Amino acid sequence: MRLLSILGALAATLLAVPAAAQQIASASTVASPDGHLVLTIGTNSGEGHPTWSLSRKGQLLISPSRLGFLLTDGLAMDRGFTVVGSETGKGDNTWELPWGERRYVRDHYNELLIRYRQADDRGGRLMNVRVRVFNDGIGFRYEVPEQPALKQMNIADELTQFNIAPKGTAWWIPGGDWNRYEQIYQKTPIDAVSIAHTPITMRLEDGTHLAFHEAALVDYAGYWLRRASGQNFRTHLSPSSRGPRVTRALPMNTPWRTIRVTDDARGLVESDLELNLNEPNKLGDVSWVQPGRYVGIWWGMISGRWTWATGPNHGATTERTKATIDFAKKHNFRGVLVEGWNEGWNADWFSRGFEFSFTKAAPDFDRKEVADYARKKGVRIVGHHETGGNIDVYERQLDDAFRTDAALGIDWVKTGYVADAGGIIAPGDKPGEVRMEWHDGQRQVQHHLKVVETAAKYKVSVNPHEPVKDTGLRRTYPNWVAREGARGMEYNAWGAFANPPEHEATLVYTRMLSGPMDFTPGVLSLKGAEGVPLASTLAKQLGLYLAIYSPIQMAADFPEELEKHPRELAFISQVPTDWSDSRLLAGSVGEYAIFARKDRRSEDWYVGGVGGAEEHTVTFTFDFLDPGKTYIATIFKDGPGATYKTDARHNIAYETRKVKKGDTMTLWLAPGGGAAMRLQPGK
Ligand code: NOJ
Ligand code: CA
Repeated sequence: MRLLSILGALAATLLAVPAAAQQIASASTVASPDGHLVLTIGTNSGEGHPTWSLSRKGQLLISPSRLGFLLTDGLAMDRGFTVVGSETGKGDNTWELPWGERRYVRDHYNELLIRYRQADDRGGRLMNVRVRVFNDGIGFRYEVPEQPALKQMNIADELTQFNIAPKGTAWWIPGGDWNRYEQIYQKTPIDAVSIAHTPITMRLEDGTHLAFHEAALVDYAGYWLRRASGQNFRTHLSPSSRGPRVTRALPMNTPWRTIRVTDDARGLVESDLELNLNEPNKLGDVSWVQPGRYVGIWWGMISGRWTWATGPNHGATTERTKATIDFAKKHNFRGVLVEGWNEGWNADWFSRGFEFSFTKAAPDFDRKEVADYARKKGVRIVGHHETGGNIDVYERQLDDAFRTDAALGIDWVKTGYVADAGGIIAPGDKPGEVRMEWHDGQRQVQHHLKVVETAAKYKVSVNPHEPVKDTGLRRTYPNWVAREGARGMEYNAWGAFANPPEHEATLVYTRMLSGPMDFTPGVLSLKGAEGVPLASTLAKQLGLYLAIYSPIQMAADFPEELEKHPRELAFISQVPTDWSDSRLLAGSVGEYAIFARKDRRSEDWYVGGVGGAEEHTVTFTFDFLDPGKTYIATIFKDGPGATYKTDARHNIAYETRKVKKGDTMTLWLAPGGGAAMRLQPGK
């Protein structure tokens, strides 16, 4: 039996790889450092389509798939190509993240650069493809050199295909739909995906996990992964108002097209593939980028008790801000977010934003008084720039806005682009003319970087909501600390729209692969507007701080609600937001995710995370602890009978016990449950 299965596997290897390679003429291959992943690239025989394929441990993952571009002003760059040269390379470096899920990142890959030339009767254009193959995935990008036959690329669409060979399941949200990235994840067979945002995560029948995404999205349009037929997908660039979806002078590089490929969910979550494909820090000394926790004048507006606009229920008054600063000081929060502090909210701002000022305060909010008070208390005000999607208005005030904020001691700013997809209002070419753009189109991608660079000039960190997806640019611009880009806690304030109980256990393996999220956990009352309950137990609210990473973590609930739970508030008041190491101890996409994370500033470890819709019992080993030490574990877990479905969602159990390296623990996660614990080395 065993011999037969070995022979079977061998036959599969021999059949799979050469079959793919046969269809690719002048093929070159590049393997991962461990030899498991093999990417083949060349042209297909016949029409000279640039073509690539990918196999892992002898199994074909991506069958021959085409590469190229459609242009708006010339013949397509997709056929008539020959390979005119190639170069190989490799890298193995370890670099340091100024803040993050871990301190050191290993960047280990083999590289291949393929030089293509198109036939003269098709334009004679030159196009290179650079491929990097890592043990946990691949990345490739187009590099279009300076050349006589082409000065500027006017790209109608990018024709990168991904023909996925094995069957499997996908977790995804639709690209191009009105609610941007704020959608509930769908779980379908791969061949039932329509058009998806990335990261899109897949689990193949043999357990292999894949996540398609991109790295270093700079001056280009984000792509959606569109299924053409069966399991054949290709890139679909986010639209532009200008005809070409991307316009770039040459030379130019596209973002990297990436696929994480791992044995299991853990490998997927622990991969740093996209960070490794971004440029190193361009900002120099970034000691001014400070992680931390914050509270805010926010949940009151989201849940409808207060308003952003001035009036009898205005949230952002001077008095309330001072009281919130006192609360922050008392409970060890670095920041106080204040939304609705400025002019513009009294107009219909949604997808308009014409009246917003980013320097002028509402009449009942005294910026100077609040700034002085915060400074005296050692608390930071967190700035807020909601644009309503109007980047025309915002860009004209950008420099003034960040200069004024910084002068008041603000060093984190949350921005916002509340407008339906396609509703970004960008400046036109003439005064008075506007251009309607997409949240992930080339113009908005340029805008985000402009904001991040302007903020950096004033030593301010930014956290956009309704953003473009994260593609690892925090490596290059470490002041881009977090973003939204998925359904966050706010949906739980909106009754009928609340997030389902498995939402966060899905986010961990999808949205979170792209980078930190400002999810804003910590609604300890477990209540949204009009008392509508959250699909969460109390323990899960603590588990979120370990499951959903961000260097800036909010405690979202009303201060008086947080204070009703002193033990839980005490946990939130000290949970780190910056780690020297992070590992997934137990995980399954959409079902549960339990992490171990080590504090960057102490020897403490934290363990915890979230469950899904069904209960789960998970067992893990404390093999990450230092040998020879005993740790005191302070544990918050779902209490007996806890479930998100009833009032038993408040059932929580506390436990203190000693643990050491090698011990195992079994945790019961309630439906909609979670857990969190702190492990401190004992004397
Ligand atoms: C949507 C954001 O996600 C939310 O956090 C913010 O409060 C509102 N927009 C208003 O800016
Ligand atoms: Ca939002």
